[in-house]
Amino acid sequence: MEAKISEAVAFLRPLLKDQPEIGMITGTGLARLTEKMAADLRLPYEEIPHFPGSTVEGHKGTLAAGHIAGRPVIAMEGRFHLYEGYKAHEVAFPVRVMARLGVRYLLMSSAAGGLNPQFEQGDLMLITDHINLKGTNPLIGPNLEAFGPRFPDMSQAYPPYLIRIAQEEAIQLGMMIRQGVYVGVLGPSLETRAETRFLRMIGADAVGMSTVSQTIAAVHCGLDVLAIAVITNINLPDCMEQTSLEDVIEASRKTGPRLSDLWERIIGRLPTR
Ligand code: HPA
Repeated sequence: MEAKISEAVAFLRPLLKDQPEIGMITGTGLARLTEKMAADLRLPYEEIPHFPGSTVEGHKGTLAAGHIAGRPVIAMEGRFHLYEGYKAHEVAFPVRVMARLGVRYLLMSSAAGGLNPQFEQGDLMLITDHINLKGTNPLIGPNLEAFGPRFPDMSQAYPPYLIRIAQEEAIQLGMMIRQGVYVGVLGPSLETRAETRFLRMIGADAVGMSTVSQTIAAVHCGLDVLAIAVITNINLPDCMEQTSLEDVIEASRKTGPRLSDLWERIIGRLPTR
């Protein structure tokens, strides 16, 4: 694993104009920002040694490097989900590559179903904490000591100072932004009513199929994580409505532009180190 990471890093480093400071994984709600970035580099995943996806047919994804708000970023445009058949450590691989390239922050955005009855479709939620219900963990296997400890602390997986920056910038933009706990499930089937009730009872405000594995890998190697969920549908166990892919796409389309502005401002405020 470590050798594969080193090979990917050795391949990428000479292609980057500046050492990236900020890593991004674009899901719902973040793709637009990197798409409009004038990238210094844009590479299909399959051209990068050992990158997951290189053997999976039809998988689209690019790694882009450039500047946003004057700061050097590297972005995975298109992420890997466990429900596609990837292993948790494969999902973690690009996070570790970005960390080795010098990134200090990992920013992520994703679609999620709202469990908190106060939420509405199209709301944005700052992830303050997560519950890993995926039944797996990207750190399973021999620990990579060079990256982090065997039992990494997860008590501040989403550092409060980053949440504060995001809140302050949302206020500046006149945007309402929620906060809450994200529960990561495996998918790809959506939740039953009983599962929805259970997820709410254990303390989650939103449910989704991504983010958690990448956060764990990032925290393990010392990155500061900020993640925003786009509430694409509302799941209430007593009046459960069917969720269609169209709902998810429509909600992300509606929130895209304002979320993009928010991300740009947040990036401009990240402490330089
Ligand atoms: N459940 C799980 N993942 C999701 C949902 C949901 O309702 N909406 C968007 N991603």
